[in-house]
Amino acid sequence: MSKTLNRDKLKKKIQSIYSKVAESSDSEFHFETGRELAEKLGYNLNDLDRVPDAAIDSFAGVGYYFDLANLKPGEKVLDLGSGSGMDSFVAGLHVTKNGEVTGIDMTDKQIEKAHNLADKNGFDNVVFKRGFIEELPFEDKNFDVVVSNGVINLSADKDKVFKEISRVLKPGGRLVIADIVTKEQMPESIKKDADIWAACIGGAEQSDSYTSLIEAAGLEIEKFKENSKYSFISEQAINASKEYGVMSISLIAKKP
Ligand SMILES: C[S@@+](CC[C@H](N)C(=O)[O-])C[C@H]1O[C@@H](n2cnc3c(N)ncnc32)[C@H](O)[C@@H]1O
Repeated sequence: MSKTLNRDKLKKKIQSIYSKVAESSDSEFHFETGRELAEKLGYNLNDLDRVPDAAIDSFAGVGYYFDLANLKPGEKVLDLGSGSGMDSFVAGLHVTKNGEVTGIDMTDKQIEKAHNLADKNGFDNVVFKRGFIEELPFEDKNFDVVVSNGVINLSADKDKVFKEISRVLKPGGRLVIADIVTKEQMPESIKKDADIWAACIGGAEQSDSYTSLIEAAGLEIEKFKENSKYSFISEQAINASKEYGVMSISLIAKKP
């Protein structure tokens, strides 16, 4: 294990794991994937039946936030770390043909898969773009809603991510996410392990400092809840979860 977290190595590790998630959801990960997970987290079955199965197979989110998001027809939505696209497609159904959804992800295999699924399944209002959530390739005040599921914990520059979200949201716009945080501060030895970071554990911020970063970016948190249905599956991940109170949360924050 290196003395400090090597960001390049971490990025490659994350891309390698989530390429595998895109290609084969049958592989063994520290976390669950697929339709069973989505149903357990509370996704609406009618929504799941209307989005491409292959996107659901590679779903690797950590919570359900569409109840908080309350997306309206015509809204413009950005999905950060859109993976194989399941949430972007669900959002596409909710905003209807008058709205639009853009998914952004740094892993080529995820973007390729999501883009092909949108194309083949007639989701004309959903587009996918390769990019980094720390440097969003969009103009200021561009989106009504930013959503994200299980992604921001993976960033080593969370303050940058929240500032970028605040920048691209329209005034009155909302951020609605599910993510992993911890009750206790985790020791550096865990934070420096790229494997455990890429499994959505090592990068998890302590809950209060996570919400402070959101507020420091100029967003006001309106609701914050724990998602008790989410749990990790490998022994290493379960042990870390128990020891440091690693948990899934959903929240909604507004840009004044
Ligand atoms: C746990 S998966 C979740 C994917 C999707 N939101 C879902 O619910 O299935 C995390 C995704 O975030 C992407 N990702 C991680 N860090 C990123 C970053 N800094 N910029 C852009 N995408 C990133 C990964 O490539 C991966 O597809």
